[in-house]
Amino acid sequence: MPSSASRNLRLAPSLLSADFADLGNAIRRAEEGGAAGFHLDVMDGHFVPNLSFGPALVSAVRRVTRRPLDIHLMVEHPERFLEAFRRAGGDRLTFHLEAASDPVAVARSIRALGAEAGVALRPETPVARAGPWLSELDAILVMTVNPGFSGQTFLPGGLDKISEARALSDRAGGRVDIGVDGGVTSETGRWAARSGATFFVCGNAAFDGGQIEANLNRLRAAIDQGAEERHALP
Ligand code: DX5
Ligand code: ZN
Repeated sequence: MPSSASRNLRLAPSLLSADFADLGNAIRRAEEGGAAGFHLDVMDGHFVPNLSFGPALVSAVRRVTRRPLDIHLMVEHPERFLEAFRRAGGDRLTFHLEAASDPVAVARSIRALGAEAGVALRPETPVARAGPWLSELDAILVMTVNPGFSGQTFLPGGLDKISEARALSDRAGGRVDIGVDGGVTSETGRWAARSGATFFVCGNAAFDGGQIEANLNRLRAAIDQGAEERHALP
């Protein structure tokens, strides 16, 4: 049983690292391992130097899980794709602040579609840029790698940003979910939990070696430990 310090922390496996030829099975096993929802990385080859998948894959995933789907839109002009990903079954649409010319309008459009609005920040983008319009947001996703690829090394500079984002959220009644994305392992996930992250995107660390349930159990134990450490802070 998670303790009170960690009850609201959630693991969100990134399906980019799963076996696409056996995705239904990977999702089922991740659910058994305690995945609270799934993170789907959409890449357009412009905003990031890689391509991944579009709404058709999100629809396929939607058919095999009831858990929330967070669509991480690493695309230019995210407003063009909101409706398609919402229709495909996205529960939360997370766009990049750097990709939006009018982020408030994008967040409002997402909510108008009945989804939660998340904003993602590249490693060099300050959290303070989301502060003035926090009321338009349901989540802040702090990137701890340069977006584009799974399996990269965690950039520890993200920890201060997680603390800052969590402090902003707490001042707003704790309503805004604070995610960490990129290079999350047992060690870095624990640090992120100690800094105040409330959800943890995990790609490589979740699916590595096909030991999905065991991997997620290990990550869970580590973030619980980080949450306990946070709780014990003066
Ligand atoms: C990076 C993606 C991440 C990534 C996570 O551009 O946004 O979600 O797939 O994978 P790991 O956990 O392996 O860094
Ligand atoms: Zn992502």
